[in-house]
Amino acid sequence: MTHEEARGLFPVLERYAYLNAGTLGPLARPTLDAMDERARYDQEQGRGGRAWFESMLELRTRVRQKVASLISAAPESLALTSSTTDGCNIVVAGLGLRPGDEVVTTNSEHPGLLLPLAVSGATVRVADVANRPVAEAGERIMSLVGPKTKLLALSHVLWTTGQVMPVQQLKRETRLPVLVDGAQSVGAMPVDVGEADYYTVSGQKWLCGPEPLGALYMRDPESLRVAFPSYWAQAGIEPDGTFVPRDNAERFDTGWIATPMLAGWEAALDVRPDWSFERAAEITEHCRRTLAGSFEVAGEPGQGTLVSFVPRGDPAETAAELYASGVVVRDLPGTGWVRASCGWWTNEDDIERLVVGIRA
Ligand SMILES: Cc1ncc(COP(=O)(O)O)c(C=O)c1O
Repeated sequence: MTHEEARGLFPVLERYAYLNAGTLGPLARPTLDAMDERARYDQEQGRGGRAWFESMLELRTRVRQKVASLISAAPESLALTSSTTDGCNIVVAGLGLRPGDEVVTTNSEHPGLLLPLAVSGATVRVADVANRPVAEAGERIMSLVGPKTKLLALSHVLWTTGQVMPVQQLKRETRLPVLVDGAQSVGAMPVDVGEADYYTVSGQKWLCGPEPLGALYMRDPESLRVAFPSYWAQAGIEPDGTFVPRDNAERFDTGWIATPMLAGWEAALDVRPDWSFERAAEITEHCRRTLAGSFEVAGEPGQGTLVSFVPRGDPAETAAELYASGVVVRDLPGTGWVRASCGWWTNEDDIERLVVGIRA
């Protein structure tokens, strides 16, 4: 598939310079077709018949396998969820953190991770990594680790600036449980869960699936209590609710994910070309260089696929004006930045439209 052919898959690119996969990725025609087809099948076959059940279970299995292989994980170590936020809640609640425990995180985390930490009862210690050299991040985070630290919880790629955090190094150096928020990494760049204990996936961002979809990798399902059981938690249940958990990470599946959404996600996973990560990295650097010609750009090169910059006017107004001119980006409240997301579908013309749009 050439880059031009790849772009042709996304109807939104006919109208917009779409630069906001960090929030929601563009939907490809095969994804939309798979969703329609599955919805039609469900209507025509009737949900709840034997064939429907079997096909639904097979669909869950295939999606689990495809997402797992993308992050170099075994399918048995993956729970299907509806978001990264779900994944963070499952881990933080499942660890049973208590007052007196400490969690170390950074000052550039998304509410999807911060809210589960905030309600955990643990003390949250926040390392200052925002807009600091990436090379300092490991040390800044490590300096907050102490005898009461029960968890390191941070993003692989910061949603604000795209900086990549040294998550594997932190695991190696602390041997503490590490929860990685993978919302801005999976689908944007090569990911290997490596030694991480828990790693979340968002389906609707860089993987270009419909929402709400996600996954949670866990190295050892036995390390977590099932704090929010869904039907999928149990392999057998007693009248009083006592249950035998399912084997493996499936016990943490969050619920009955709608089959058209799963079918759409499977199609989206199949659509991604082999060259996606190289192309995304190249166009991100092009975007960064081009914007740096006229604006202050946050962070440093060679990181994730997000580029944040200081616009001349108010960031929210700038994003609204850009939208009106056919360019989709977002502002990041409280930072003074506008953020552009560069995916494998992005081309130089999209970046040109962004720059021309801001100047106008
Ligand atoms: C770093 C990060 N974590 C978590 C989230 C929330 O993701 P989800 O909607 O999949 O819970 C986002 C969404 O923007 C994000 O950027």
